[in-house]
Amino acid sequence: MIYSVLLGLSLASPALAACSRAALQEATASYVRAQAAGQLDLLSLASNVSYAENDTPMDIKQGVLSQAITIDNTRSLHDSVECATFTEITSATSKHPYVIHTRMLVAESKITAIESVVTDEGDWVFNATVHLRWSKQENWDPIPEGQRDSRATIKAAGDAYLNQWANSTLPVPLGTPCARLEGGAYTGERNPAANTCKMPAFPTPLKAGNRRYVIDEELGAMDILNGFPWLEASKPADFQTPSSNMFRLEGGLIRYIHEITVCATPRCGR
Ligand SMILES: *[C@@H]1O[C@H](CO)[C@@H](O)[C@H](O)[C@H]1NC(C)=O
Ligand SMILES: *[C@@H]1O[C@H](CO)[C@@H](O)[C@H](O)[C@H]1NC(C)=O
Ligand SMILES: *[C@@H]1O[C@H](CO)[C@@H](O)[C@H](O)[C@H]1NC(C)=O
Repeated sequence: MIYSVLLGLSLASPALAACSRAALQEATASYVRAQAAGQLDLLSLASNVSYAENDTPMDIKQGVLSQAITIDNTRSLHDSVECATFTEITSATSKHPYVIHTRMLVAESKITAIESVVTDEGDWVFNATVHLRWSKQENWDPIPEGQRDSRATIKAAGDAYLNQWANSTLPVPLGTPCARLEGGAYTGERNPAANTCKMPAFPTPLKAGNRRYVIDEELGAMDILNGFPWLEASKPADFQTPSSNMFRLEGGLIRYIHEITVCATPRCGR
């Protein structure tokens, strides 16, 4: 009897949590330490680890992770269902400032995939000093148990925000207040109590594709790595420019959005 109850539990729990939050937290902590030191050997990498920056697979040794950078602020999300993590790094005081969004996959406490959107000077409205100033004022603390939104609610909200770029009449659950930090531009600067997240209708429907998710119900947060069409003037209109959108929800409504977008030419040629 006890046996079958235990068996039932052990079969049920992996679907609820495929990875422990502690193991994922160790992965993001080691990622931040490695980036600060520019030392790959601080990471517990699987032998077959894949690495990509700005949607381009590359040798991890040639990437930004091999450069020591001053880390002024970080935020990490931990997705125990998908065994995935997300980290935002803001480096304003490095000689070379960056804002980096990184998604990692973890299996058996080893990192099996790292993909980063790496933005710096010349990328879409990039300004790490401004990014740091506003990001540090925001509250991304854990949501009290009992008030947390479901994965489905969080995912649907972020998807709705991206889907609206293709159809400006689609509803998006934006809160009041809501503020968007887009590179180094903050919509909440003038009126922090208002909902300033609504996007104007684009001149042409934009289908944001190539979506990869990390969802953290404890923080009410999600990141979507996505493609952003049309923006890069030097590419065809359907080219999916590497981009990332990080969301915080409170009570089913979007509170904060952090977007970073990579330009192939300075300021995407605009
Ligand atoms: C790499 O190895 C891990 C652990 O053995 C496995 O889970 C993962 O699917 C592999 N990834 C690739 C891209 O082969
Ligand atoms: C970033 O913004 C700050 C404050 O507006 C400004 O002083 C600084 O010159 C900007 N930095 C760059 C590299 O544009
Ligand atoms: C846009 O969204 C609205 C509201 O959901 C829907 O009625 C309409 O059919 C959509 N338009 C297109 C072109 O998909």
